[in-house]
Amino acid sequence: MSRSFDAGILVREEIKGLIPYNPETYPEFVKLDANENPFVFPPDVQEKICKTLCSEAFTRYPDAMAGKLVQEISACYGLAPNQIMVGNGSDELILNLMLTFGTGNRVVIAVPTFSMYGIHARVASAEIVEVTRDRNFDLVVDEIVQAGDGAGLVVICSPNNPSGNSATTGQLVSILEGCRCPVVVDQAYLEFGGKDMQPLLTEYDNLVILRTLSKAFGLAGLRVGYLFANPGLLKWLFKVKQPFNLNNFSQAAALEVLRNRDSFALQVAQITDEKQKLYRALQDMPGIQVYPSDTNYLLFATNAPANEVYEGLLQEKVLIRNFGDPLLLGYLRVTIGTPEENKIFLRALRKVIDTLGEKKND
Ligand SMILES: Cc1ncc(COP(=O)(O)O)c(C=O)c1O
Repeated sequence: MSRSFDAGILVREEIKGLIPYNPETYPEFVKLDANENPFVFPPDVQEKICKTLCSEAFTRYPDAMAGKLVQEISACYGLAPNQIMVGNGSDELILNLMLTFGTGNRVVIAVPTFSMYGIHARVASAEIVEVTRDRNFDLVVDEIVQAGDGAGLVVICSPNNPSGNSATTGQLVSILEGCRCPVVVDQAYLEFGGKDMQPLLTEYDNLVILRTLSKAFGLAGLRVGYLFANPGLLKWLFKVKQPFNLNNFSQAAALEVLRNRDSFALQVAQITDEKQKLYRALQDMPGIQVYPSDTNYLLFATNAPANEVYEGLLQEKVLIRNFGDPLLLGYLRVTIGTPEENKIFLRALRKVIDTLGEKKND
């Protein structure tokens, strides 16, 4: 006779409240929802990666400390290897930060922002304190410093996802000086714009910078992120890190991407150019309010309900980002695609807005 067993009785309430991360996929659609690089991965870089893969890459565990990759990052960014940690996407590094400094502590998050900070903070059983950005999505520094008093971790995204704006050095310095805890600055989109906070690492022992190869460097599928911090802070994170967090294939690919980063600079310039065109086109559309952006996406609000615009675009086989966050009600985010994809998006958006306008007037 089988005995019934409810595993849920063992699960914390904050875990029960989470929704599994399972974004909708529409393989045939124009995909402008996840801030990926829309261009073809440079074939010469792809070929170099494949050439480095020998049989041992499959049979043996990877280098737990990703030594070669760390050396390359160290050379690229002018940092010592002991200031660097690599992760299975910056998502993994965010989780490790929460588990190391957040569990049993308060975690301060400037919102609205990237949802994984809140999700991983809950997984880590941290007490979450959200400090709302102002109406232009700018940081409210005084409130962050106040909330950061006695906290375990403060998290700032700059440039911010999804608003696209960046923190200034002055704002960050005030937060670093006002908070006696690690201050994480997620610079996932820095290649597209915004202020580089790396120079502050020499002065501030509590600064942690997150970077990723998922956005400008077209490597979202292989999950490679990295983190810069002072060695005294990093040593705690290394205690929490999964032993072989970055597989052989990802380590090899990341190495080649960084060695060939010029190939990606060209793509970033094209994306920036396309962003400016898309920004102007959205500005010219009646009923749309679009926000300036230091990233590879644009946040916009429409007079029509965002849900209906989102659903209308899906009918046109265009996938953008809609939000469940109450602070982002009425907003949508579109990733900058290829020139062709951006044209399709604009055409579809015009059609959807016209149709919704006609319905309203009926
Ligand atoms: C601000 C921000 N940080 C981190 C990530 C996750 O990056 P990764 O692919 O390196 O896990 C994202 C992905 O959308 C992001 O927007």
